[in-house]
Amino acid sequence: MDIFLLILSAYLLGSIPSALWIGKVFYNTDVREHGSGNLGATNTFRVLGKTAGLIVTIIDILKGTAAVLITFIPFFTSTGIHPLFIGFFAVIGHIFPIFAKFKGGKAVATSGGVLLGYNWPIFIIVLLTFLLALKMTKMVSLSSMIVAVVGFMYCIAYYVWTGDFYLMIVVGLMGIFIFYRHRANISRIKAGTEPKVKWL
Ligand code: G3P
Repeated sequence: MDIFLLILSAYLLGSIPSALWIGKVFYNTDVREHGSGNLGATNTFRVLGKTAGLIVTIIDILKGTAAVLITFIPFFTSTGIHPLFIGFFAVIGHIFPIFAKFKGGKAVATSGGVLLGYNWPIFIIVLLTFLLALKMTKMVSLSSMIVAVVGFMYCIAYYVWTGDFYLMIVVGLMGIFIFYRHRANISRIKAGTEPKVKWL
């Protein structure tokens, strides 16, 4: 029962469609009808501007972080379930949100938040890698996929160093979902039509 509650809490946290709700409440705009149509931070930057984009980025990151941290609430510690697996359910919620007809974002920010909650130094390294990739490619989608691969490689090295097996597995799983959700972006990158950020 405790495990079920924990998983449900993480899923519901991840399901909070920040891009949709902020767009509708503060801008009277449904971001699903504009830009890439994605319910994520990148499309919020694109459609609603920097302030909304930044707020959505922070909320989407914190959803993953919060899901990891709730496993440390005394009521839940007896479950013995690994925090990363609970964090992963927030990523599932973000991709398939119950509050937005199960059509959500592309897993990037919330996966980052899971890392932040579990191992902040690795989060910082992954974030810097993402920013470097973005500076070089100017494409958020391509940078997200690059960081999914490179982040997994960091976690393999970290496993060899510390024996943290679950980090490697969960980061690998999150990477698979990131690639799966970027199928349309991959087609656009191949066709040379993927939008580039202008402010870098
Ligand atoms: O985090 C999502 C990003 O990688 C791509 O978003 O809106 O350009 O498809 P978008």
